[in-house]
Amino acid sequence: MTHKIAVLPGDGIGPEIVDQAVKVIDCLQRELGWQVELEHAPVGGAGIDQAGQPLPDATLRLAQAADAILLGAVGGPKWEKRDIAVRPEKGLLGLRSELQLFANLRPALLYPQLEHASTLKPAVVSGLDIMIIRELTGDIYFGKPRGVRILENGERQGFNTMVYAEHEIERIGRVAFESALKRGKRVCSVDKANVLETTELWREVMTRVAKDYPTVQLSHMYVDNAAMQLVRAPKQFDVMVTGNMFGDILSDCAAMLTGSIGMLPSASLDSHAKGMYEPIHGSAPDIAGKGVANPLATILSVAMMMRYTFNDVRLANVIEASVQDVLVEGLRTADIYTAGTRKVGTEEMGDAVVAALIRNVWRTETGGAPDTDKRCMREGGLTNEID
Ligand code: IPM
Ligand code: MG
Repeated sequence: MTHKIAVLPGDGIGPEIVDQAVKVIDCLQRELGWQVELEHAPVGGAGIDQAGQPLPDATLRLAQAADAILLGAVGGPKWEKRDIAVRPEKGLLGLRSELQLFANLRPALLYPQLEHASTLKPAVVSGLDIMIIRELTGDIYFGKPRGVRILENGERQGFNTMVYAEHEIERIGRVAFESALKRGKRVCSVDKANVLETTELWREVMTRVAKDYPTVQLSHMYVDNAAMQLVRAPKQFDVMVTGNMFGDILSDCAAMLTGSIGMLPSASLDSHAKGMYEPIHGSAPDIAGKGVANPLATILSVAMMMRYTFNDVRLANVIEASVQDVLVEGLRTADIYTAGTRKVGTEEMGDAVVAALIRNVWRTETGGAPDTDKRCMREGGLTNEID
């Protein structure tokens, strides 16, 4: 079976980091005969420049036809003056809603080697492993009415609508409880039920859904407190589930616990596990084209793609193990650099992950050169350290 992946590099550092992730996919193809068809298309600012809109029709069709989508990042100062309805971000939001990618998984995992890269004390973050589950196709992001109107006195007034239907809350709740079953069996649902009716309903539905998962412990937290707890004592969390807006904010906050937002991958899934995979960071126009961006979040997004869409836990594990290997080797991009490590650029980091991947894939008994008879992945026997 050929796996079809739509590759949408987007803007800013998007193309540079996506190139590194593509190297990883190419490596799986070369070394393991993993059958894949990659097709590139523009989105965001690149979509505007090349086809006149942030989500060109051809890009949407390609994304719809693919099994999975690999996305870089969208946006940049070049397009900031455009009307909000036709800005690069609309390309990303359009993909999420057109493809019904309602479940956004954002794992905040701290690699032990990066304990000192976080701005928080190592004792606060070491061992951190949180799964943030953000609802992605509802809430104030998509709610109507929205816009800017002129009041009677001539003053302008902006308005957006926070909305959630019960079924939307229930389905994201189920994703969170299912995820918790495979992890620490705890779900913290984040809302603002003391002020907003929408999230009062959210809390009620979460409580109802929890009854179907008696082995999972559900707690509720107001979003302001959740933001505080994330920097005060983040290890108290296992799975956090929240709406689109709160999830956007809290996941950036959680990202910094892991050392850098350049480390956080994400999966956006529909109800059939078709998914779009992207780093959670943005297009970082200030460093675009300089070859210094961290490609690890994008490479880790490919690992998530293996796990969630292609159902290949072993490939996911081997990619994650290879990322860990380069960190153990002491390689760091600027965003995660600390004294005593070696600063490398985007390309060098990508190449190092590929080299580690080849080593992990070609594990031989002698530890020597590749041997066609001992393709451990094909034989189905990965080493313990990456299992
Ligand atoms: C994210 C981003 C996007 C969002 C932007 C680029 C539209 O911040 O994926 O978190 O707000 O969802
Ligand atoms: Mg965000």
